[in-house]
Amino acid sequence: MTNDLFLRALRGEVVERPPVWIMRQAGRYLPDFMKLKAKYDFFTRCRTPELATEITVMPIDQIGTDAAILFSDILVLPQAMGLPFEMKPGKGPFLASPVRSKSDAERVYVPDVEEELDYVMNAIRMTKSELNGRVPLIGFAGSPWTIFCYSIEGQGSKTFNLAKEFAFTNPSAAHSLLQKITDTTIAYLRAQIKSGVDVVQVFDSWGGVLSPVDFEIFSGQYLRQIVEAVKDEAPVIVFAKGCWHALSTLSASGASALGLDWTIRPEAARELAGGDITLQGNFDPARLYSSAGEIKGMVWDMIDAFGKDRYIVNLGHGILPDIPVDNVLAFVDAVKTYPQKP
Ligand code: CP3
Repeated sequence: MTNDLFLRALRGEVVERPPVWIMRQAGRYLPDFMKLKAKYDFFTRCRTPELATEITVMPIDQIGTDAAILFSDILVLPQAMGLPFEMKPGKGPFLASPVRSKSDAERVYVPDVEEELDYVMNAIRMTKSELNGRVPLIGFAGSPWTIFCYSIEGQGSKTFNLAKEFAFTNPSAAHSLLQKITDTTIAYLRAQIKSGVDVVQVFDSWGGVLSPVDFEIFSGQYLRQIVEAVKDEAPVIVFAKGCWHALSTLSASGASALGLDWTIRPEAARELAGGDITLQGNFDPARLYSSAGEIKGMVWDMIDAFGKDRYIVNLGHGILPDIPVDNVLAFVDAVKTYPQKP
């Protein structure tokens, strides 16, 4: 690997500077991505290995991040389980018949992921060969709770109250569905690793709608099953947005790193997560609207606060679609020019 800074930071080694990548870096704000987006619908981009490869490698060539993340979506997994999610342009995910009853949940099945998601594996192999060892490739999946949220709600939501209602009033059906999603996710992440990804990240984008007690019941235990099953095959990063209360339990899960959103101070995150785990984050995505000079100052302060070791610079959530490319370059450049202190 020509640039293995990201892998070294995940192992907790002393590094010359922290690595940097950006959640949702593949797509969204790059003009060349917009051109592909105008030509091909979302899942065509995911299912065509040539397109997924081109989009994955784009930020490596144009932005210079220290890791690539495969262009795909967390919803390809429930698609393979019998839930035919669509992507409505300008609106987001949509499932015409969401899971609303015990019998709906029983119809969801654990597929053969290597067969059903072979296009993901082909995209990984093609991307690895295109990257040619320049930077590591990150594979990913949604957390069982986050996939459950979309499967019950059928679309995005600010609160996911329907998903919570289902979980709280039908706990046994909810747990059996969460377990099927967990089993599929473990097989899926293992298949991604076998196909060549160097690291995996699990996105619990909606763990933060749960109370700390319910988080443990409906999300934490499944996240831990996944980490336990995968951690000996590749480093695992767990990003549980809005779940600062779970940093100490997640830190004991065997994950190599924990992702953080922007609402927590670095010092508090270090204290909650404990000694040796690597932390990743947590620049407010909207702060990339600031000037290049301000971005640089804030990034340097952030690295000072986390410390340059056991740290991966990232945003606290996905990049916003209308961030100017020059500001993204300023963010990455700030990390690369971080002044080494004696
Ligand atoms: O860096 C990357 O962009 C890698 C690929 C990636 C996508 N989605 C592509 C995408 C990744 C890692 C994801 C993860 C994802 N998808 C999450 C977890 C991370 C997070 O943001 O919390 C979630 C919750 C989803 C579900 C999803 N997919 C939503 C809610 C939407 C619509 C709103 C949006 O973010 O645009 C999507 C669509 C989607 N996934 C797009 C992209 C590039 C935009 C649609 C398009 O390009 O046509």
